[in-house]
Amino acid sequence: MVTSPDELSAALESVGYLPDEGIATAAFLAQRLGRPLFCEGDPGTGKTSLAVALSQALSVPLIKLQCHEGIDFTQALYDWDFPRQLLHLRALEAASGGALDSELAEKSLYSRRFLLARPLLRALEESPCVLLVDEVDRADDEFEAFLLEILGENAVTVPELGEVRASVPPLVILTSNRTREVHDALKRRCLYHWLEHPSLGREVAILRRRLPELPERLATQVASAVRRLREMELLKPPGVAESLDWASALTALGRSELDAASAAATLGAVLKYREDTQRVVAVGLEAILAG
Ligand SMILES: Nc1ncnc2c1ncn2[C@@H]1O[C@H](COP(=O)(O)OP(=O)(O)O)[C@@H](O)[C@H]1O
Ligand SMILES: [Mg+2]
Repeated sequence: MVTSPDELSAALESVGYLPDEGIATAAFLAQRLGRPLFCEGDPGTGKTSLAVALSQALSVPLIKLQCHEGIDFTQALYDWDFPRQLLHLRALEAASGGALDSELAEKSLYSRRFLLARPLLRALEESPCVLLVDEVDRADDEFEAFLLEILGENAVTVPELGEVRASVPPLVILTSNRTREVHDALKRRCLYHWLEHPSLGREVAILRRRLPELPERLATQVASAVRRLREMELLKPPGVAESLDWASALTALGRSELDAASAAATLGAVLKYREDTQRVVAVGLEAILAG
């Protein structure tokens, strides 16, 4: 149990996540008030890794629900292990010598041992834990409503088995890359935090923390160049992940300087759309690196 945002901040830093004050406070409040934290921001601003770092910092398991188009109840909450149920039924039939009590058989088929717990159910059963509901904007409206219900109750009823209730609410981190607006009802249940790209100083610190052999000067050059690229309204502005990739690529090529030549050789680590590369080349790498 951490008792202040500063303490949580230090705990996150100790596992390699460098939060700013805003995100440390938001995560602290989520934990303290038992409310889900809804993190929105551009890709690569550290939303997913926040949940990973929180689980490490708080020494609790991380349970991840990756959302995608068409995700449903059976992938998120629970499902029945149909092949094993079938095998069990065959065994029961064989043992009964043709006099199977169908009611009893059904009862044993729908027992806990044939239930496949998916992330939401596991989180309720295993809490205290961090439950990461990642990229909720990729799921549909119906799924959102379902999620809202579970997060509101911290419990779920499996008709055949009864209620499963979390003894303590899991620390829930929802993330969205904002490919669509998530409904107000879901946001209302949550604390909200918009993650910005890190400041120059923080990004340099992240680069050096993640890539200890990276010289400070090169780290600063990469972080500064990435900041300028972010100001260009590209189709896919680079996130921290791209800064890390760029720095790794430069290091792998043995470059100790981010100049126009080394930038040109490694641009694919930081820009992922042909249109973006063309725009950057048209503006001129020299100009971008010079600021
Ligand atoms: N504040 C931070 N401290 C340490 N690493 C960070 C931070 N923010 C982002 N990163 C790193 O940047 C990369 C992308 O972060 P990620 O959490 O996947 O972004 P998102 O989920 O917002 O798209 C990861 O490798 C992550 O570890
Ligand atoms: Mg993510």
